[in-house]
Amino acid sequence: MRVRILGTAAGGGLPQWNCGCRSCSRAAELGVARSQDCLAISGDGTSWYLVNASPDLRTQLLASPELRPAPGTRRTPLEGVLLTSAELDHTLGLLTLREAARLPIYATAAVHQALRQAFPIADVIGNYTQVRQEVIADRRLLAGGLVVEAVGVSDKRPRYARELPGTGWAVAYRFTGSGRRLVYAPCLPAWNDAFERIIDGADVVLLDGTFHTEDELTHASGSDRPARSMGHLPIRDALPEIARHPATRFLFTHLNNTNPLAHPDAPELADVHGAGAEIAAEGQVLVLG
Ligand code: MLT
Ligand code: MN
Ligand code: ZN
Repeated sequence: MRVRILGTAAGGGLPQWNCGCRSCSRAAELGVARSQDCLAISGDGTSWYLVNASPDLRTQLLASPELRPAPGTRRTPLEGVLLTSAELDHTLGLLTLREAARLPIYATAAVHQALRQAFPIADVIGNYTQVRQEVIADRRLLAGGLVVEAVGVSDKRPRYARELPGTGWAVAYRFTGSGRRLVYAPCLPAWNDAFERIIDGADVVLLDGTFHTEDELTHASGSDRPARSMGHLPIRDALPEIARHPATRFLFTHLNNTNPLAHPDAPELADVHGAGAEIAAEGQVLVLG
């Protein structure tokens, strides 16, 4: 199983175009940049799937040698897209994929519903490419021998879809290939027994690293939105849990631009490393098995 972490920032990216917070200002000054959350994964190194479709997708694809078309053709190694949610930072990149000959989209029924009703992007790009909306529930075998399981972690709807019913609005994916297991959970509201079951036996976990602390956004922007109220367990509260799982490699991703840990020289990194965890890097490649 091979993975390329295409983007490691939460919605807005780092720096965010309209944000002058300390972190964004420093990032602009020092040339630190993180693009929005997205992953490419393959069971055999030949057939690839995107997990989430970030607004930065075009640049991310062009920077990934594995995802280039075969010379002289328009044959892409991309077999489809799996969505962990219908949030805009995970779906706007679908527009970028409209040049594809066909576009299988795997997501929960709730997410598909949002992409047909409140944000009818599937219908819009259906005029350009052959969209196939596949409901993903439980286990599924994908091309290249990759097995994927979707497990619901949150029922927080995107702001544009507040009125829509249903459950399964944010999932974690558990991938198995070459006998190894990777969990991708860019949105995690709480570390509970259900999450323990999701990560049971995982070699690698890519985890929600949106905020370092519960009140980070209040300090940075004055907005009164604690991390947990936004469906994101702060990194500081995940670290003691991670320390209990020394056999598993944990990398934080989906970092908000206010998160000091988005910077390579953050003093707070000592605690992350002390717990045995890492901060995912842009373009980072993981090879399992
Ligand atoms: C989230 O991760 O909570 C959402 O993407 C938030 C947003 O962009 O509105
Ligand atoms: Mn997000
Ligand atoms: Zn900022």
